[in-house]
Amino acid sequence: MRILVTGGCGFIGSAVVRHLIRATGHSVINVDKMTYAASEAALEEAATSPRHLLVRADIADHAAMAQVFATHQPDAVMHLAAETHVDRSIDGPGPFIQSNVVGTYTLLDVALSYWKALDPARKAAFRFHHISTDEVFGALGPSDAPFNEHTPYDPRSPYSASKAASDHLVRAWHHTYGLPTIVSNTVNNYGFWHFPEKLIPLVLLNALEGRELPVYGDGSNMRDWLFVEDHAVGLVAVVERGEIGATYCLGARQPRTNLAVVEAICAALDARLPDPAGPRTRLIRFVADRPGHDFRYEIDPSHAERSIGWKPAHDFTTGLGRTIDWYLANRSWWEPIRAARYAGERLGKGAAA
Ligand SMILES: NC(=O)c1ccc[n+]([C@@H]2O[C@H](COP(=O)([O-])OP(=O)(O)OC[C@H]3O[C@@H](n4cnc5c(N)ncnc54)[C@H](O)[C@@H]3O)[C@@H](O)[C@H]2O)c1
Repeated sequence: MRILVTGGCGFIGSAVVRHLIRATGHSVINVDKMTYAASEAALEEAATSPRHLLVRADIADHAAMAQVFATHQPDAVMHLAAETHVDRSIDGPGPFIQSNVVGTYTLLDVALSYWKALDPARKAAFRFHHISTDEVFGALGPSDAPFNEHTPYDPRSPYSASKAASDHLVRAWHHTYGLPTIVSNTVNNYGFWHFPEKLIPLVLLNALEGRELPVYGDGSNMRDWLFVEDHAVGLVAVVERGEIGATYCLGARQPRTNLAVVEAICAALDARLPDPAGPRTRLIRFVADRPGHDFRYEIDPSHAERSIGWKPAHDFTTGLGRTIDWYLANRSWWEPIRAARYAGERLGKGAAA
């Protein structure tokens, strides 16, 4: 298949591109606007593969997207491009509405015209896979059952509201126009090439540098954690084998409080590089909570596990260990980002996923 991947230079998108090039015969047209969150280095060997092409473009640019579809004739779309950092959405929601809502609408509009003109065989095989988050479902209480494919939407932050809007648009394009769409909603990802403003890389790199580890509230907020390379495998299984019109909730069954995640990072780092000043948990500082901070997200992945035959290969301890080893071995990537982005404004904020 020729797969048009949007946001393929981002954290999850680049894992998808690497997996598609390494482990499948598919080719990739990677459309990315190259925002602050994009990294061409994260494509690794995929960048030079003849089966990968990077197109620098904005998904909200109708003419550019029409040209991409006309020129490259994709068999499927995997739509990951989005603004994704909740704290940034609180500080400035505009780009989230533009990329996540207007961008998804534009992509759907172009994809629909393209799909309608395909010959019957290609039309039947075409898929538009939209990648979304568990945050659209709102927040769970401590003893609520995890989210699943039937959970009603209840987004709380500008980020999750913009993602919820895009999910609704995708489903509407299926129900109204017949576009063969699939939606997947996923828990928090972690792993290689994660931009160092999100919880795990932020805490890991602060701990490594002996800086304070800011934790929102009392650290009891809970998330389920999925290793990004496992997510990439699941996403490709969805686009290859998913049912048209279906939703797949991809979870890891690895829920942890934010405090437990921070403590696990400290312990794993202490074991690799002991700090003469003492255990790194001494650096933990509880800071004022994020406004509207959702208490708990967790997904029941039973349906996806059964229907697409996917399960993550890593538990949290194994995935975290690989992640820490990767950051220790790849300072040349994150050190300039830290220097440029983190000199001031965001280090004092809490760390949350
Ligand atoms: N990271 C997570 O834990 C997580 C969890 C669940 C779902 N998701 C979803 O997965 C997708 C990817 O997340 P991520 O963490 O890799 O994000 P990211 O922020 O790391 O990367 C997003 C990518 O999209 C690109 N992009 C942004 N706006 C664009 C536009 N208008 N046109 C073209 N490209 C644009 C950026 O340049 C970047 O390369 C998102 O849709 C996100 O909502 C993420």
